[in-house]
Amino acid sequence: MEVAVTAMRQGACDFITKPFKVDKIVATTERILGEWKLYGRLAASQGSDVSLKMLNAELFKRLQEIGSLHSISTEIDRCHENREMFSRVAGMAAKLLPVNEVSFGILEGGRLMIKSSVGVEGETFPVEGTFFGAVADGREHGIADVGAPNPYTGRPLESQFLAIPCLVGNDVFGILSLSGKGDGTALSEEEVYIAINLAKKIASKIENNALYEVFFNNIVATLKSLIATIGARDSYTKEHSERVTTYALRTAEVMGLGPEDIDTVRFGGYLHDIGKIGVRDTVLLKPGGLTKEEIGEIRLHSVIGDQIVKPIRFFDKERKIIRHHHERYDGHGYPDGARGEEIPAIARILAVADTFDAMTSHRPYRAARTPEHALAEIDRCSGTQFDPEVVRAFLETVSGAGMR
Ligand SMILES: [Fe+2]
Repeated sequence: MEVAVTAMRQGACDFITKPFKVDKIVATTERILGEWKLYGRLAASQGSDVSLKMLNAELFKRLQEIGSLHSISTEIDRCHENREMFSRVAGMAAKLLPVNEVSFGILEGGRLMIKSSVGVEGETFPVEGTFFGAVADGREHGIADVGAPNPYTGRPLESQFLAIPCLVGNDVFGILSLSGKGDGTALSEEEVYIAINLAKKIASKIENNALYEVFFNNIVATLKSLIATIGARDSYTKEHSERVTTYALRTAEVMGLGPEDIDTVRFGGYLHDIGKIGVRDTVLLKPGGLTKEEIGEIRLHSVIGDQIVKPIRFFDKERKIIRHHHERYDGHGYPDGARGEEIPAIARILAVADTFDAMTSHRPYRAARTPEHALAEIDRCSGTQFDPEVVRAFLETVSGAGMR
């Protein structure tokens, strides 16, 4: 779309997006030739005011269309979740085209389940034997004319009804439908073209999101297998990571963190000790007390974890949490001695969850402390070792979870 806008600014008459049909080239070329003839007539008549105004209006309309297409294309690109995109599709189409009724639905169990709509009542519609079914089977857009049964209500249509299938691979994933053109006229070729391009953009974004999800899940699976290798050496670290994640998630919810941050808590919690993979068995699994050097070696796990996750571009936030989960609120932690707000909020949450679990777990060199003891200790260290706000939320979750 950006290339198209730049090209139009530099003097291109129009643009065609790939893949295109020969008909489209012919129609576009004919229209451009028509415009050139109009220019010619205009030049011959040395500029009639009326023609010039018409031409200006046409030009303004085209610019507005391109601008809207561009902003909607950007809006779709920003939707990383299909659900979010689906909920906006109808509004986008209504903004782009002069229609009063828009719906976007996905095909599920032989029905069209509406995900977003403007001016359309109803949440699901039958597909088999209906206009929706014909469009889905034909994998091509279709127009139902005035008088044909309205696919939503069955009553005769008072304006044209356009339905466009969204193809993902070879399958029809959903249908974008538009009807009720405000001025009662038939849909123009350009309007149909814009709607088809919107449906194509949605389909390609669904495909991208699916690829991203597969890719993301692969990374998560790889990281989980790394954690499993720690589990094989040191079952405590694996179980500890799972419990810390549970405590941290509860705390994050009480603190009102958004869904994206909650995801970061989940991965960050699960991976926070991944760097222990780089700590020698003789130190990691040592049953007794540790020497100063050995403590130094264990402490390196937060930096090693940071290095392990560093090459994975999508885990920047998690990386910071892994690095900083042993920082203290008063700046006396490690590895960077970061303090207060300098420590990422989720790392501050993990610090509390981590300490609580470490204290209440049985270790070869000391018995587990009672939850009451651990909670009193966390409360005592509020404002020094821990962020007071996190401590408050954590205590609230623990009392709610019946751990007192
Ligand atoms: Fe740790």
